[in-house]
Amino acid sequence: MVLGATLFSGCLFDRADRDGSGEGGETGNVTDGDYVPVKPVSPAGWPSIVWPKENPYTPAKDVLGRRLFFEPALSRTQNRACSWCHGALEAFADVHGDSMSFGVGSGTTTRNTPTLANLAFARTFFFDGRASTLEAQAFGPLYAANEMDMTGPEIVARLSADTTYIRLFAQAYGSGPITMERVTRALATYERTLISFRSPYDLWRAGDSAALSPSAKRGEALFRSAKAGCAECHVPPLFTDGGFHNIGLDSVPVDPGLGGITGRPEDMGRFKTPTLRNLTATKFYMHDARFRSLQRVLEHYNAGGFPQPPGAPSIRPLGLTSGEQDDLISFLEALTDTAFLQTAEYHFPNR
Ligand code: HEC
Ligand code: HEC
Repeated sequence: MVLGATLFSGCLFDRADRDGSGEGGETGNVTDGDYVPVKPVSPAGWPSIVWPKENPYTPAKDVLGRRLFFEPALSRTQNRACSWCHGALEAFADVHGDSMSFGVGSGTTTRNTPTLANLAFARTFFFDGRASTLEAQAFGPLYAANEMDMTGPEIVARLSADTTYIRLFAQAYGSGPITMERVTRALATYERTLISFRSPYDLWRAGDSAALSPSAKRGEALFRSAKAGCAECHVPPLFTDGGFHNIGLDSVPVDPGLGGITGRPEDMGRFKTPTLRNLTATKFYMHDARFRSLQRVLEHYNAGGFPQPPGAPSIRPLGLTSGEQDDLISFLEALTDTAFLQTAEYHFPNR
């Protein structure tokens, strides 16, 4: 496992990529404490990472975005950074071990805090898909009263009074004022570096047959089988199809999900298919964190959930034995990428 992880990180991250092709202020030699920014490249056999034309990768934006991600001053009460809810050791999902997350003034979020792993490959953001870029998404938590409760001018004023940020923004963007566009572009750049691809499953796929237990191997085959049907929506290697589905959690959806955005009756109760990577680190499952174990998730799928018009064909009683459910869980557990969770560079920056 350790050997495999070293091998993988060596060949898949291009440490030499500092070509300065991005925006102004590129120094070609940017670091922040122990953080040496590295432009991620797609693991072999994966789709390409989408770097938007207007916001290409640069090491200086990566460094700045990481610091902003862990910056409590971006919240009104100066104690709620993005990382307050999205913890690195939890695969950037809910930190608190409670069903919902607490924002400013302990206002709770109405949904579970999702992982931020592999969003460089995503086309829509939030459980209901209401943001179409990471840049646009970042405004959501910054301005939401129950999350960070700030306004653009307040954020700009705070950052513009901090000598570290004056330096880091100049390094990332050259001259000109600190703006919310620059804040959100840096955050998005950092988020796109959060790539999880070194689980035992990935090592097994790369040829290490001992990386999966016999039970996990049986679970992998079942996962892809017509009997269980999981891979129809949770498509490897990202374990999402990027689509929205109603998996029959409620007879009448409590949270409208996609339907709350489109207003279409057929979208009620549809949510974005989440990745299944790092589930053992995220602990709470579904948009409302209703399940607290993978056993409970499997019981739901096996029972088939509430029938929904127009029901997803795979959401029906599956008839899995308890041994088969255990095998599926072994497989899901093998999607946890310890190297990702422990990547020191992703953690709190040294001041
Ligand atoms: C108070 C807790 C909290 C804070 C603080 C917070 N988030 Fe979130 N985040 C959430 C919740 C809850 C959701 C899901 C909301 C939804 O889908 O409606 C979410 C969703 C997201 C998503 C979408 C993920 C996906 O798969 O679509 C991204 C990206 C994200 N947050 C980034 C950030 C960034 C960047 C910050 C800081 C600027 C931040 N979050 C601050 C709780 C939080
Ligand atoms: C029709 C598409 C579809 C199929 C088939 C499907 N899923 Fe899901 N899965 C989803 C969606 C959508 C969600 C998110 C629902 C929500 O948040 O309320 C989800 C959520 C999950 C979660 C919770 C993830 C998290 O981080 O909260 C797990 C675990 C999971 N599915 C495993 C499976 C397994 C195992 C199977 C096969 C038995 C399966 N899924 C079949 C679409 C599907």
